[in-house]
Amino acid sequence: MVSIRQIHPVFVGEVSGVDLTKPLSKEEVAAIEAGMDRYAVLVFRDQQITDDQQMEFTTNFGAIENAKGGNITKAHEYRLKQGMVDVSNLDKEGKPLARDDRRRMFNLGNRLWHSDSSFRAIPAKYSILSARVVASEGGNTEFADMRAAYDALDDKTRALIADMVCEHSLMYSRGSMGFTELSDEERAMMKPVRQRLVRTHPVTGRKSLYLSSHAGNIVGWLVPESRDLLRDLTEHATQHEFVYVHRWRQHDLVIWDNRQTMHRVRRFDETQPRDMRRTTVAGDAMTAAQAEAA
Ligand SMILES: [Fe+2]
Repeated sequence: MVSIRQIHPVFVGEVSGVDLTKPLSKEEVAAIEAGMDRYAVLVFRDQQITDDQQMEFTTNFGAIENAKGGNITKAHEYRLKQGMVDVSNLDKEGKPLARDDRRRMFNLGNRLWHSDSSFRAIPAKYSILSARVVASEGGNTEFADMRAAYDALDDKTRALIADMVCEHSLMYSRGSMGFTELSDEERAMMKPVRQRLVRTHPVTGRKSLYLSSHAGNIVGWLVPESRDLLRDLTEHATQHEFVYVHRWRQHDLVIWDNRQTMHRVRRFDETQPRDMRRTTVAGDAMTAAQAEAA
């Protein structure tokens, strides 16, 4: 029997009564989906799963997202098989990346509040993160409930942003970290896409703020005024009462809905391995019409 206990005042459920190493029944999948609609983040403890089991679990909720274009790591440098997203600090040999490694610099962008794949025209539905080796200190992942953040906006702000569309790109999030040395090929890969700023959940009908550090400007606005408003909204959305801090234990598995939440990872000792493995459930629609090709 799948049971879910809410562990934060506004969102996040801890799930018990399910073994993710085994195929799930239809009823179990339905209970987890219903939990995701309601809590937006679900925590499973003590799930010692393999990559294949994680991918199998992921396909219960949709297709696995094609990871192409999401990172500067080259194909011959991949540590994990296709379908797995490597969010560890490790190279192919399992050693922590050097301090000045470009891949590490790029991955530091995950310390900024974001929604996974908001830089894709069809952005991600769920992300599923399995903790194989955890940091001895730090490395928490923080989640913010973007529905609660939307609900707490004043009427004037809601009216202002109701139909806003933002441009998202990895270039904006990495640029704000000072990581700007990109090849022409990487720049082409990071072509901005358009996303609505207010999303409506397809099942619950709840509205949420669709913010992400990948958002660099608002269509029709000047860049500095766009960033001013986006920064203000992000500050509002990530205040203490909307944020859950996940302190990882080995074999935790956490699922979050990228349509309803933002997240960020916090600092840890990067000389030690931190092996976190993600799978991503692809979304099924664009949130806004894309710009015509120039
Ligand atoms: Fe992420």
